[in-house]
Amino acid sequence: MSILKIARLGHPILLQKAKIVEDITSNKTKKIIHDMTKTMLDAKGIGLAAPQIHINRQIIIFRVPEEDEDDEKKIKITALINPRFTKITDKSENEWEGCLSIPGMLGLVKRFSKIQYEGSDMRGNIIQRKAEGLHARIVQHEYDHLQGILYTSRLVDNSAFGYAEEIEEYWKKKEIEKSQSQ
Ligand code: NI
Repeated sequence: MSILKIARLGHPILLQKAKIVEDITSNKTKKIIHDMTKTMLDAKGIGLAAPQIHINRQIIIFRVPEEDEDDEKKIKITALINPRFTKITDKSENEWEGCLSIPGMLGLVKRFSKIQYEGSDMRGNIIQRKAEGLHARIVQHEYDHLQGILYTSRLVDNSAFGYAEEIEEYWKKKEIEKSQSQ
């Protein structure tokens, strides 16, 4: 397994549509998923799409943010090959998102609050799940990468984007004050 370089905003691969994976159970696909896992953990990310490591294939990985029953903090990583999703509700949520390809920055993005997603794992089994909240958000964000879409083109408004420290200072504090005064 290798830690690979992550493509950053401005690299054309991030704007390309990823190709369908035909050899789902091949060693090549396994190696890509292992390298993506190592790269994501090294970068302390919660999701990664293959184009972000310069591989134009429909593969995403993410950490399912569910609290484990065990005391041990096991990190559960899901890898999905050729993923798809559908919304379960028309309701959406605005939340701040980051991306390993846009380090240090956050943007306010609207996403469906509940989705159903599916894809293959590297053994060729179909994974099908319902997700909401952060889990649903991550899947939608990573799926977007496979369409060549970055969150910066989905901002709630153009001004809702900036460096994480400034967002904490000038946006999040305001949101907390607002919610406390209500
Ligand atoms: Ni991203």
